[in-house]
Formats: sequence, C-alpha cells, structure tokens
Amino acid sequence: MKRSFAAACGVFLTALVIGCGGGGGGGKGDGSGGGKGGGSASGPIRIGAVLELSGGTATYGEETRNGIDMALEKLNAGRERPIEVVYADNNSGATETASAVRQLIDADKVTAIIGAVASTNTIAGATQAQNNKTPMITPGSTNVEVTRIGDYISRVCFIDSFQGPAIARFAAEDLKKTKGFLVIDKSADYSVGLGDAIRTTFTSMGGTIVGETSFEAGASDFSALISQVKAAEPDVIFIPAYYREVAKMLSQARKQWDGIPKLGGDGWDSPELLELGGAGVIGTYFATHFAPDDPNPKIQEFTKAYQDKYGKPPGSMSGLGYDAALVVTDAIDRVEGELTKDKLRDAINATSNVDGVTGTIKLDENRNPVKDLVILEVTASGFKFKKKYSP
Ligand code: PHE
Repeated sequence: MKRSFAAACGVFLTALVIGCGGGGGGGKGDGSGGGKGGGSASGPIRIGAVLELSGGTATYGEETRNGIDMALEKLNAGRERPIEVVYADNNSGATETASAVRQLIDADKVTAIIGAVASTNTIAGATQAQNNKTPMITPGSTNVEVTRIGDYISRVCFIDSFQGPAIARFAAEDLKKTKGFLVIDKSADYSVGLGDAIRTTFTSMGGTIVGETSFEAGASDFSALISQVKAAEPDVIFIPAYYREVAKMLSQARKQWDGIPKLGGDGWDSPELLELGGAGVIGTYFATHFAPDDPNPKIQEFTKAYQDKYGKPPGSMSGLGYDAALVVTDAIDRVEGELTKDKLRDAINATSNVDGVTGTIKLDENRNPVKDLVILEVTASGFKFKKKYSP
C-alpha cells in the first residue's frame, strides 16, 4: 500500500478530546501498567476512537464521530463518571491506524477503542490493540478476519459472510440475473472478502461469473475497466468497493453500462456516492446496516435528531457509531469494582441485549453480532429502503 510521509505525519493532527470536559486528567495511571485505564476513579472515563476523518473514505469517520458524539451527549447527562473520547484521524490508512492505536494506548491511556471503519485499517489497528490487551470495537468493519485477531476485538456490525450472500441472492432472486461481473478493489480486504462471498453464493444459485477485474484505491480513470466489463456482456455488475471509486466508475460508465443493474455493499453508504456519482448511480442497489427511511419510530427519532444536529440525514456509519458508543457504555456500566481493560473486555464480549439504532446487539461467541441487513435503492432524492434480510 502506498502511503506518503505527509499523510503519515497527519495522523495525530486532529486528535482531540471531547465529551465531558470535566477535569480531563483521565490518564492518571497507577504506574502498574496492569491494564488500568480511564483515569482516576472519580474522573471521566477516557476511551479512544480511531477513524477515517480524512483521506479516501473520510465520510465514514465523520459520520461515525457524529454518531458517537450524539450517543454520548445523551448518555453522559447525569453520569457520575462521564465518558470522554480522544479522536485520532487515521487518514483512511492502515499504518496510520496502527500507530494511532499505539498512541491512544500508550500516551492517552484509553480504556477501550472504537474503530476503525475500513476493514484493512481495523485489522492493522486491532493487531496492536490485541497485543496491548486493550478492548477495541469496530463500528463498521465487516471482513470476517477482524474479530479473529483475538478476544479483545469485537464489532457492532454484521459480517461479510452474511452480506455477500444477501447481495448475490438479491441479484439472483429479485432481479433474476444470471451473468454477473465482479469488480474488486484489490487493495481492500473488505472488497476481496465480500467479492469472494458474492461469487460463492451467486454461482451456488446457478449464476455464472462471466468476468472479474480489479483496481486499487485512489484509481480515477476507469475507461479500460468499463470497456472490459461491457465486452463480457454481464446482466448484473457487482462492485463491492468503497464509495469514492464506485461513484467515479459509475459516472464514467454511464453510456456503456446503461441498462445493466449495478450492486454493491455497505462501502457505498456515503452521501458522496450521489454527490460524485450523479446520474450514474441512480437506480443502483447496495446492502447496508440501516435505512434512514425505515418507519420504525426509533429510527425516525434518531434520523430526525441527527438531521437537526448535523443538517443532513444519517448514513449507516452514523447509526453504527452511535451503537458502538451504546455498547461500550453498557459494558462499562456492567463492570463491578475498579474499571480495568480486562474487565471491560469481558463485559463487552458478554453484550447480550443492547437496543441500538441498527438493531439489537448481542455478540456471539466469536464477538460478532447477528443482525438484519437492508438493501437500499439509490434514487435522485436519496437512499430508499428496498428489502430486508434476516440471518
Ligand atoms: N464494511 C466496510 C469495511 O469493512 C466499512 C463500512 C461499513 C463502510 C459501513 C460503510 C458503511 O471495510
């Protein structure tokens, strides 16, 4: 993965502490190094959040931070020990995520970490968190490998062995397509893993993958790829990749791919998909964690509160950030006696009934929740609920 020095230097520039403001002396360690974090027993509890706040997938970080802030604003009201968050920007990169996690653990003395969003970044950061015995919970990383890193690592989102089959089924059963073309971002574990899952299910249902091709994050000229796909004459195109490249690809492919349905996964879930993709993304579908137009009163309440606060509708990452903060707070409240990182890990892993905006969160023995998924249709006026899949 190419990574500029300037980008790496940017990692901590935006690190900042929000939350209660009370005291801020959270890092008052006990010197034992034995997993005690979060500050003195009377001060705030300090957690970290490492997020894609700049770079190629920056809307993920922004939406997650908004969701976390919204949740804590509510949860901190009246709390004896409020929860404060140190945000670190990973500039959408893996090496930056690993160093940001070390910084949060070593210098900021956080008790737990929320993050990151893109699976490749989370895998790099989680390896550090696991080695340093610090609980880390990702709001959005769906790649199956993420929680296999170890028992300090968990998540609040569904995983790609559920997401891939849902996308393939929607193409085969609902759209009645049989000739798929698979376009992969080979620099992202998420894209490779989700592509594998789509291919396996689509072919097991009698479909054929008539061609496959790949690109790398940051690509901006897709003309050769577009012609290659067109020449294979697919009746459906699967693009399990991130929104920026997808939007550019689809806006460039308009004429050539006209009339062929395009499908993706949660990586499409960004306001930039429509902003950058324009007419090229209208009529496409993607799988994700939450539908902002779901009539469920709980979701409507969240959507309205988010819209009022931030002036735009929430995406899945807003909901997942919110839910990650709920899960961490719920776990903190179940720890008895002194709050240690090991006790918090056990409490997070025992999460059994957190009523989040993206669903009810119960972690299984592999620290993955089992949750519904929605398929959204991209329309000129936003993302619209199309269908729900339950595990
Ligand atoms: N699931 C994506 C990944 O693992 C991240 C993502 C989640 C993006 C939710 C958008 C919405 O890389």
